[in-house]
Amino acid sequence: MLLSVKNLRKDYRRAQQTFSAVDNISFNMEQGDFVCIMGKSGSGKTTLLNMIAGLLTPSRGKITINDTNLFELNDEQVSAFRNQNIGYIPQGSSLLPNLTALENIRLPFYLTKRANQTSLTYAQQLLEKANVSHLQDAYPANMSGGEMRRIAILRALICQPQIVIADEPTSDLDDESSTEIMQLLTEIHQQGTALLIVTHDHDVANYSQKIMKMAAGRLVE
Ligand SMILES: Nc1ncnc2c1ncn2[C@@H]1O[C@H](COP(=O)(O)OP(=O)(O)O)[C@@H](O)[C@H]1O
Ligand SMILES: [Mg+2]
Repeated sequence: MLLSVKNLRKDYRRAQQTFSAVDNISFNMEQGDFVCIMGKSGSGKTTLLNMIAGLLTPSRGKITINDTNLFELNDEQVSAFRNQNIGYIPQGSSLLPNLTALENIRLPFYLTKRANQTSLTYAQQLLEKANVSHLQDAYPANMSGGEMRRIAILRALICQPQIVIADEPTSDLDDESSTEIMQLLTEIHQQGTALLIVTHDHDVANYSQKIMKMAAGRLVE
């Protein structure tokens, strides 16, 4: 099993009240799956993905990726594990403004002190594959929203993860850019990478093999 999410829960406390932003969610993904979770704003999608990416500790439940229980690892181990196994594309713009496209894509390698020639060549291949080689030395401020999103996707691929997780990958984009982003993600899936996407956009969901629905922290249907 690539990903197993079991009885996952995240409680937040706000205005003296506790509520479950993610409430008892369980599902599995196998290698090469393409799953989409749909839900309205505030339904808990980002909270769920942040836990799966090992960025947020659950209140209850268990997540395993390739049989490794994420929350049995210490902080340093989680970071290393995430770097090697999970490609995470956060919601919104996530590029570092003072790094070029190429440097942003290679960032995961810098962080693990592996910024070698291999990573440079591979990053350049990725830029080429996504038709954005001309942006190699450009800074995020000089890119369109769709271009920035594309660079963020390539950054998620640099460590050749088995699973790519994307939080609203087409939000704030026009129809044409959205289609281009989904074509890029579909290609990644066709090359054998598992894909987990959350979105509120029905057009995006149509690209996936399996759609799950989330409402008020729960999976429904
Ligand atoms: N750190 C936090 N503290 C308290 N409440 C939060 C926090 N983060 C998110 N929430 C709340 O949890 C719910 C789910 O948020 P989120 O996971 O961002 O939903 P979505 O991504 O589906 O829009 C929302 O009601 C949001 O306001
Ligand atoms: Mg969100």
